[in-house]
Amino acid sequence: MTKPVKKILLLANGGREHAIAKSLKKSAKYEVEIYGFFNARNPKIIELTKEFVITTERNFGEDTQFEALQNFAQNIENLDFAIIGPDDPIGAGAVNALLKVGVKSFAPTQKPAQLESSKGFTRSLLQKYNIEGNPEFRNFVTGEETELEKYCTTDILEKFKFVVKDDGLCGGKGVFVQGDHFETHEEGAKIALDILAKSGKLVIEEKLEGPEFSLLCIADGKTIIPMPTIADHKRAFDGDKGPNTGGMGTISFPNKLPFITNENIEEAVAMTKKVMKAVEEEIGERFCGVMYGGFMRTKTGTKLIEYNARFGDPEALNALPLLKSDAVDLFEYAIHQKLDELTVEYHNKATVCKYLVPEGYPTNSVKHKTVTVDQELLDELQLDKNYNGVEVFYASVYEDENTGELKLGGSRSIGVVGIHDDFKEAKKLADKAIKAFSGPLFYRKDIGSEELLEARMAMVA
Ligand code: AMP
Ligand code: GLY
Repeated sequence: MTKPVKKILLLANGGREHAIAKSLKKSAKYEVEIYGFFNARNPKIIELTKEFVITTERNFGEDTQFEALQNFAQNIENLDFAIIGPDDPIGAGAVNALLKVGVKSFAPTQKPAQLESSKGFTRSLLQKYNIEGNPEFRNFVTGEETELEKYCTTDILEKFKFVVKDDGLCGGKGVFVQGDHFETHEEGAKIALDILAKSGKLVIEEKLEGPEFSLLCIADGKTIIPMPTIADHKRAFDGDKGPNTGGMGTISFPNKLPFITNENIEEAVAMTKKVMKAVEEEIGERFCGVMYGGFMRTKTGTKLIEYNARFGDPEALNALPLLKSDAVDLFEYAIHQKLDELTVEYHNKATVCKYLVPEGYPTNSVKHKTVTVDQELLDELQLDKNYNGVEVFYASVYEDENTGELKLGGSRSIGVVGIHDDFKEAKKLADKAIKAFSGPLFYRKDIGSEELLEARMAMVA
């Protein structure tokens, strides 16, 4: 029997989008045709597409017209829906632009996407709707420089250490934490004044202490479906040292991460449900897509660090391969606000994801250098019949059109994910798979190690 065809537009070509594309192509129910709106020739995603364009419309900002995207979508006959991977196009209104030409997306429209694109919006929303989980905070805008300085240097001086956050999307570079990025309240105030001068809007919030976890929920405005809990490793170097990155690797365990409690998960899920409802009440548009909460287990309960309005990268590389249920249904039911009709199952496995990144990443990455791949080794490590093995995702790499060589794009290059019943075995699998790639690359050896787990356990002792 032939399967019904689903035509899906996929915007972007990083590791997260490779994971999305793979999950779609695994569908047992549908013959999936992926139409890629890309900005680089990522060969492994291209392999999965029916058609694609490489576009120059890549800096998605306030004034983006999205004409190229609309034209691309309109030329696909009977397109079923679109999936927008990254935060920039979502924040700039790609979903609204596609709606104008009659295409629905798995991703939020611009207003609900403020959950990620405005940190102040989210803090105020939780406060207004009496949702637990906020630290102490205050939003500031241009014109409030004097109050800002007084708040940082006097009002909170004896009360708490603080974090300065640019209100908008900054690619992970807009957060400054006392003790990490600055020491005294005065130094923090200076940073805050600089940010306010540049961006006009910021949040000052209490510094929270404890281990962090990511909880990604598929949301349709009415129902949320939580994915397994995952922990990211944002620092560039071993031992959680060095600058913050998009995420050097991520881990998950069967059932849950060992350094959080079931109560933490229940509180994070409850918070996410309330926030989803509050978004609609506040702005009159429902949230459809991924509500990706960064949470912290603190001595005073589960606290919200931030929400993102998309799949995490690398979190998607852990979560999507664990999805047993049909990914096409999951995304399409969310679009049609029918998630309450779905039962979603996951493989109850441990995962260890590690990103290979270019030398110099994140500040001064080498680019356009060649990476070689030992495909035989990767074939040996493929998932076995018990669903133990390795999945590989290509991210910021591209195929040189003249030589066919794989080249570095400059951001995180290739993600490998070890999947196993046993966490230690999952780590070993990831470490083996890493060896399949040669080039000017590095990765974090310690992700998945006992030492790092113990360090996170110690934070809650
Ligand atoms: P964000 O971009 O909001 O996820 O922040 C980046 C990182 O900064 C988080 O993963 C945390 O490690 C840290 N961070 C953000 N907000 C806080 C906070 N209120 N207390 C402590 N650390 C924080
Ligand atoms: N894992 C970090 C992010 O996707 O923002």
